[in-house]
Amino acid sequence: MPTHTDVPVYRADLYSPAAIRDTHTHYAALRALGPVVWLSKQKAYALPRYAECKAVLLDDETFISGEGVALNPLTNRGGRGTLFSDGEEHARYRGQVAHRLTPRALRAITDTVEEQAAAVVEAAVADHHVDGVELATALPMSVVPDYIGWPKEGRENLLRWAGAAFDGMGPVNRQFVRTLPLGLGMMRYARRVVRDRSVLEGSMGHDLLCAADEGKVMPAECVTMMVDYLAPSLDTTISAISNALHLFATHPEQWRLLKADPGLIPNAVNEVVRYESPIRAFSRSVARDTELAGTALSKGSRVLVVYGSANRDQLEWDDPDTFDVRRDAARQLGFGQGAHGCAGQGLARMETSAMLRALVARVDRIEPAGTPEWLVNNVVHRYERLPLTLIPA
Ligand code: HEM
Repeated sequence: MPTHTDVPVYRADLYSPAAIRDTHTHYAALRALGPVVWLSKQKAYALPRYAECKAVLLDDETFISGEGVALNPLTNRGGRGTLFSDGEEHARYRGQVAHRLTPRALRAITDTVEEQAAAVVEAAVADHHVDGVELATALPMSVVPDYIGWPKEGRENLLRWAGAAFDGMGPVNRQFVRTLPLGLGMMRYARRVVRDRSVLEGSMGHDLLCAADEGKVMPAECVTMMVDYLAPSLDTTISAISNALHLFATHPEQWRLLKADPGLIPNAVNEVVRYESPIRAFSRSVARDTELAGTALSKGSRVLVVYGSANRDQLEWDDPDTFDVRRDAARQLGFGQGAHGCAGQGLARMETSAMLRALVARVDRIEPAGTPEWLVNNVVHRYERLPLTLIPA
């Protein structure tokens, strides 16, 4: 059993619906307790500060992903794939599709993404009153499934499945149990798509099938990798875009800065992901007895990298609770870092920037039009409902 004497203990449940809706209060309490905090409910060490999160992400020999990065043994034992692997196995998984997500490969879809973002925003401006989550969903849903190559039939479930995959990465709580059947549905669908070879011609999924034909990957690995790239690719970007909409609605002076200088958009994406990180936390397993910030960690214990808290750590950031598109936010950890750093961040940045560019060109002001509601999900930090009014330029 892990030793955790002398380590500050946090007894509140970070994964209760109330804590999920009020996540920053809990993060602040964790950071105040220390760099390594024992979560008595989850039986894991939370790392709420920036320095330790970064150190763990960069030391992927001591803090491994191959025993899973979820907070429950069911998912950790059953899972395999890009996120749940180390060393050469991980490099092999990642290498299969890396060519699809390089800046060069993404340049081929830049114009399409910009055009689709413009169309989405034009329709929303015409509607005037919008749900910011619906607005944020339209672009990722029109870009990502095509890019990965999911057949058109069955797409209506993709978002629910992806959300369920994230719930499955938390502890075994009500959320986990409620969405488990959906997660299994996603696996069944992915298996069928690979078996029937119904992926879109020329897509990333098509590349994977060709790799299987050449004996470079097993058919079962194709399924895993299709899911690897589906699960994290929708909710996260929807989170970034909808969080941006909310932040600019509630910080009109920041919106004016962006309108005056759209060159700030790439940094604004970093600042949005810093301020409201789409992924709350993933874990690592400790591969050998070690020490972190003076705390002994024994082999087999689990540490929780709390991206959302690291990105608000006052030891790292001046005025961390101030949203400011001018600050240098490039070192935020919201996309992870190191070997497992987000494989799709180029695409996510492209989509979020395209939406902001389309909005800046067509919208004078974004105004709150009601109380937003947070989605209750174990891992994804995003709104479920975000009533807004768009005042045309
Ligand atoms: C704003 C949007 C996004 C955010 C904030 C985000 C965040 C993250 C984070 C924090 C990780 C690190 C996991 C770890 O260290 O264990 C990660 C990994 C990953 N992300 Fe993203 N992600 C986003 C969008 C996307 C998109 C659009 C795709 C696919 C096209 C994608 C695919 C992946 C994959 C495949 C991994 C696993 C990488 C590995 O284990 O080597 N993500 N993402």
